Amino acid sequence: MTDYYKTKESVEEYIKLAKDAHGGDLIKKLNKFLPPNSAVLEIGSGPGTDWNILNRDYEIVGSDNSPEFLSHLVSTNPTGIFLELDAITLNTVEKFDGIYSNKVLHHLTDKELIDSIKRQYDILNSDGIICHSFWKGEGSEIFKGLFVNYHLEHPLKEFFKGYFKILLLENYAEFEDSDSLLLIGKKKTTKQ
Ligand SMILES: C[S@@+](CC[C@H](N)C(=O)[O-])C[C@H]1O[C@@H](n2cnc3c(N)ncnc32)[C@H](O)[C@@H]1O
Repeated sequence: MTDYYKTKESVEEYIKLAKDAHGGDLIKKLNKFLPPNSAVLEIGSGPGTDWNILNRDYEIVGSDNSPEFLSHLVSTNPTGIFLELDAITLNTVEKFDGIYSNKVLHHLTDKELIDSIKRQYDILNSDGIICHSFWKGEGSEIFKGLFVNYHLEHPLKEFFKGYFKILLLENYAEFEDSDSLLLIGKKKTTKQ
């Protein structure tokens, strides 16, 4: 793993590149399943664009594993709550009604994703909702020195299905038709 997302220069570059990108449409889908004022954890808040949209409807806690992104998040949103959390271990004792991430979990290997799913299950209240986006495709690559794991519908369902009932799994376009997947799920009563 490289330092991209971890240095001031790369974080500033990412913020510029992503300035027009946001998950507003994804959050509208989440709104159908998760009532207003729910406690939501965002994993990998990055520039904080989606954090700001989520902040309109939810009791939102932002997080990232990059201290550089966290210091940007805190300085641009002084009243916000932000935690330094790794998506794999989610090392917090707090509980949430929802967990959201937009183009973050593709940085995890399959094994790390499974570990993350288990932790998400643990830190969600009953009937908790997850909402995550992924790059669609097969295999993995290193892009800008970062690990990128692509996913297709069926294997993704297999990863989540022991812990979450899949409520929605659909293609959408980030840059091109069907280059992305959105998954929304509900915590199962018991792990299977
Ligand atoms: C592609 S950016 C997406 C940022 C933001 N969600 C957005 O939509 O613009 C990936 C983000 O995930 C964070 N990230 C990468 N690996 C992570 C991990 N293992 N745990 C927590 N955050 C991670 C990065 O620091 C970065 O903020």
